[in-house]
Amino acid sequence: MARSGKVAVIGAGFYGSTTAQRLAEYDIFDTVVLTDIVEGKPEGLALDMNQSRPVEGFETRVVGQTTGEQGEGYETIAGSGIVIITAGLPRKPGMSRMDLIETNATIVRQIAENVTRHAPDAVVIVVTNPLDEMTALAQLATGFPRTRVLGQAGMLDTARFTNFVAEELAVAVASVRTLTLGSHGDTMVPVPSACTVDGNALTDLMPADRIEELVTRTRNGGAEVVALLKTGSAYYAPSAAAARMARAVAEDSGAVLPVCAWVDGEYGISGVYLGVTAELGASGVRKVVETDLTAGEKAALTEAAEAVRAKQADVQNL
Ligand code: APR
Repeated sequence: MARSGKVAVIGAGFYGSTTAQRLAEYDIFDTVVLTDIVEGKPEGLALDMNQSRPVEGFETRVVGQTTGEQGEGYETIAGSGIVIITAGLPRKPGMSRMDLIETNATIVRQIAENVTRHAPDAVVIVVTNPLDEMTALAQLATGFPRTRVLGQAGMLDTARFTNFVAEELAVAVASVRTLTLGSHGDTMVPVPSACTVDGNALTDLMPADRIEELVTRTRNGGAEVVALLKTGSAYYAPSAAAARMARAVAEDSGAVLPVCAWVDGEYGISGVYLGVTAELGASGVRKVVETDLTAGEKAALTEAAEAVRAKQADVQNL
């Protein structure tokens, strides 16, 4: 099998290291670069991952690199076609994603500037929270075309919703299709009208109030994990989602996935990063793909866009 290209994962915490591992195990890249500011951490994790290659049977090489405050070490990401930004603080119990904004904005801005310098042609996938704002900030700070900077949230929220529905109905997750749009937060917009089980409408299979309960659990899906873990936030499902997005870009696959993308007229909404479905390819977002929504879902999406817009307007000052 032909392996090609380089993907860089910035931040070797739980999210970043599991993302790097998944990307390496796909065995489609030449190199996965993993960086962090903690001396030796990315090198140690890379060494460990490379030693799993004979067992798992992949050849992709993982390169760990400690980076310094003045951007030392960033030359290792040169030539990356994709950069995934995972660096930043995760939530603690009781915190909202917005509580992280100032600290994580400083981190994301500094990383974005180094990405511009060393990987100017990369597609950037942001996962650091608060997601919608950090995606907008990364685009501003890199100066990259908006189609080349996107965020991971909708795939994760959708996966959580799908898992809950499959468990509730005791069916295979593969038979369930769900969709969430909007923001990665309080104004997440689950779209029950687009949800199916083996092609049958979810709304015919489950009472509306039960769907609503699963929607609420999905909206609070991250907080539920944080409350149980007590230190740190979710990373298995999040890293699966981010890695799949990177794969769609690497393979120029045209997969239509729920992502945080720049919206320019779709759904009658413009000028904001928002959770929508989009076709992904080598250039990042090829196009935003609109889904038929009920009047209520459309209104909720418009409301989410306005809430996110207000917060995104502030990110340039962070
Ligand atoms: N450059 C590179 N790495 C950095 C930087 C920086 N400027 N600042 C912090 N880091 C690293 C930390 O050293 C740590 O290893 O980011 C990593 C964060 O890891 P964790 O604390 O394990 O957090 P994680 O669970 O990986 O979440 C990362 O993703 O889901 C979001 O809310 C979550 O914003 C958080 C991010």
